[in-house]
Amino acid sequence: MKIILLGPQGAGKGTQAQRIARKAGAKHISTGDIVRAEIGSGSELGRKVQEYNDRGELVPDEIIVEMAKPYLNDADSWILDGFPRNEAQAKALDAALEQLGVRLDAAVALEAPDEALVKRLSGRRQSESTGNIYHIEYDPPPEDGDDPGPFVQRKDDAEGAIRRRLEIYHEQTEPLKDYYARRGLLATVDAEQSIPEVTDDILAAVGDNV
Ligand code: AP5
Repeated sequence: MKIILLGPQGAGKGTQAQRIARKAGAKHISTGDIVRAEIGSGSELGRKVQEYNDRGELVPDEIIVEMAKPYLNDADSWILDGFPRNEAQAKALDAALEQLGVRLDAAVALEAPDEALVKRLSGRRQSESTGNIYHIEYDPPPEDGDDPGPFVQRKDDAEGAIRRRLEIYHEQTEPLKDYYARRGLLATVDAEQSIPEVTDDILAAVGDNV
């Protein structure tokens, strides 16, 4: 399985990629997690990308492409979450895959209206120890100690940054649906359904392609 998850911030790309990775034994490659790990490491690159991340802006293409590339050859099966986000990145991905002799199976677009997304992002919490994603109301962290946490809120989940990220999505990332539709690789899934229903629809949609 080699699939891309497209969709606005809060549509559930990370949530679904984690679930499908567990079910299908695929690797979850999140460029957002890669960016946050680099920031956490305190490296020079981390300091450079932090200002973009915290404002909700995209990290420049040449930097993010170089950060993402090494992961593409790291597993036989993967789910790419948060990359590509514009046409330049999509073309860079095509070139990298061609060089590796790897074929993309599908691009799945998760669709939900902006109002629902703002509510989801403001209630999101992520476990600092496991990276698992939760929501204080829709998908609360387990109380049985299965995930020790702590459960923290992301810096870019402040309202100003959320609105900026959604604006960028509509301007730059949404047009990628046409990019992949033209190549017969696009599947769309209603992301307003419950978390397990969205997972089932993604697996059904990619089942024909992988
Ligand atoms: P990234 O980490 O990718 O953030 P994002 O794109 O803003 O996406 P999110 O993680 O916010 O949304 P999601 O769809 O994964 O939602 P989630 O599953 O968590 O990127 C962060 C930053 O890194 C970027 O702003 C940029 O600076 C940089 N970056 C990364 N990639 C880049 C690139 N390619 N180019 C340039 N810069 C890049 O779910 C959200 C919440 O909703 C959770 O609380 C969840 O529990 C809940 N939820 C999920 N599904 C459902 C459901 N069906 N019903 C109810 N609640 C649900």
